[in-house]
Amino acid sequence: MLKIVIADSYDQVSEEAFKIMRQVVEKENPVLGLATGSTPVGLYKKMIADHKTNGTSYKNAITFNLDEYVGLPRNHEQSYYTFMHDNLFNEIDVPEENIHIPNGEAADPEAECVRYESEMAKYVVDVQVLGIGSDGHIAFNEPGAAFDSLTHTMELTEQTRKDNARFFDGDIDQVPTLAITQGLGTIMRAKKIILIATGANKADAVYGMIKGPKTTECPASILQDHPDVTVILDEEAAAKIK
Ligand code: PGA
Repeated sequence: MLKIVIADSYDQVSEEAFKIMRQVVEKENPVLGLATGSTPVGLYKKMIADHKTNGTSYKNAITFNLDEYVGLPRNHEQSYYTFMHDNLFNEIDVPEENIHIPNGEAADPEAECVRYESEMAKYVVDVQVLGIGSDGHIAFNEPGAAFDSLTHTMELTEQTRKDNARFFDGDIDQVPTLAITQGLGTIMRAKKIILIATGANKADAVYGMIKGPKTTECPASILQDHPDVTVILDEEAAAKIK
């Protein structure tokens, strides 16, 4: 079931997401599914502020990230390893050994997918944070990814590489072409999902996810089958579903 919340600013979108996250973090050993991209940064800022101000601890949290570029060194400023440390992990008290991110530098990416999936199989994700791509992707499950897919490698679409070029000096040629990503089947095992989207360039993908047919052409449409998804949108991202 998709519960839809429309908030009137990016800060409010982040606040609504934070409220759900905060409840889960109070659990004894929370398992947090985390995402990269610009959308979750506001949520992460609120988690950091709450940790610093109220002492909310992540000592017993386990984290699993959704995806990573293949071929970027992990200390590259645009690797998701670096992104997560800069935007969250270095500012809270989650132990490094509790953090899981696919290894984009693995000599055998296919073997890394199997390793990552089997690590995830030891846990149940309590809450998964998701963004959505303008092509309807969730994590790096691009159009055509199977609904029952497990962690796999995925060629990035031209659209995704164009969208992400802004992080690579605006140069699409610097954007990696391949990623390791949790599959749609992996993501669907999470107990609870928060999907956040802002801005007019997400309106079509949001429409496809919520109102469109369930089709692998819009990977996010699989969420229609999940029992506990909260979709948090600003007015622009919600423009086509009203
Ligand atoms: P964004 O990315 O938050 O940077 O828009 C979302 C996504 O591609 O999942």
